[in-house]
Amino acid sequence: MDDDIMKNVKPYYKTRFGKAFVGNTLELIKHIPNDSIDLIVTSPPYGLRDKKEYGNADPEVYVDWFMPFAEQFKRVLKPSGSFVLNIGGSWELGKPTRSIYQFRLLLELCKIFNLAQEFVWTKPAAIPTPAQWVTVKRVRVKDAIEYIWWFSKTENPKADNRKVLLPYSDAMVNLIKKGYVIKKRPSGYSISKHFQKDNGGSIPPNFLTFGSQESNSYYIRMCKEHKIKIHPARYPIKLPEFFIKFLTDERDIVFDPFAGSNVTGESAEKLGREWLAFEKEEEYLKGSKFRFNFNQKALDTL
Ligand SMILES: C[S@@+](CC[C@H](N)C(=O)[O-])C[C@H]1O[C@@H](n2cnc3c(N)ncnc32)[C@H](O)[C@@H]1O
Repeated sequence: MDDDIMKNVKPYYKTRFGKAFVGNTLELIKHIPNDSIDLIVTSPPYGLRDKKEYGNADPEVYVDWFMPFAEQFKRVLKPSGSFVLNIGGSWELGKPTRSIYQFRLLLELCKIFNLAQEFVWTKPAAIPTPAQWVTVKRVRVKDAIEYIWWFSKTENPKADNRKVLLPYSDAMVNLIKKGYVIKKRPSGYSISKHFQKDNGGSIPPNFLTFGSQESNSYYIRMCKEHKIKIHPARYPIKLPEFFIKFLTDERDIVFDPFAGSNVTGESAEKLGREWLAFEKEEEYLKGSKFRFNFNQKALDTL
């Protein structure tokens, strides 16, 4: 990592590829030089009505709360860099109607970033909430999606979808093997010979499907054993993993400014990317250290 990055600030811990710092991101980020980060991938506190223990801004003031961070994120990103923001929805106070706080934020962010692409994270196993509207009155269905917005500093951020290809479906494998009779589809599109080429996998869509959190991981077991608070709103490692693979190369720098239990750092470390993590609650970073106990984890798996 460039020597100028976080020069003079003592990390809470370091690993082979990364450094985690305790403190307020708006203060810590002053120690990151302009144009030095390849990817910011993060999940800030959402604008929730039911507050989490680490504090959330109300939906009404969320944009004002978030924009000073966003200005700094833009400053520290390289011109080829990306900012990936995972954000969940919220409900209007006491009503079965949705807040549009995250769309207000989106519009504001688009004034300073390019919107490279929007993603939806679908969570089939989400619990049915809010109970009042979903399970008691039965007038809404369960809320099982979150948004992931991919912003970029310029129109052409570094990206390569060949790094995140999905396995071909059985039908596609057959098609590649047996070939396809070139003809027009009902939609009018002509399927060309290109579809018969084996490109190593299929191009992923812009929705990502996976469960919310790990439930019996080494991190959780070690936090319990050492009586350290388990972070209440972790994202699954597959989320940062997808964007780190898609948008960075080995040794690039990945930064999570709202790191929580540092799932982003764990993913970056495993993928050989350098990383920085900022988190205001020391307790969460204390637990996150267990994520880097790879040898113990490997033993556990055995
Ligand atoms: C939704 S959680 C992130 C969880 C994380 N993605 C994980 O998987 O563990 C958001 C985190 O941002 C932290 N946070 C909120 N405001 C902050 C600030 N100004 N500076 C640093 N961290 C902050 C909170 O303490 C909380 O842990």
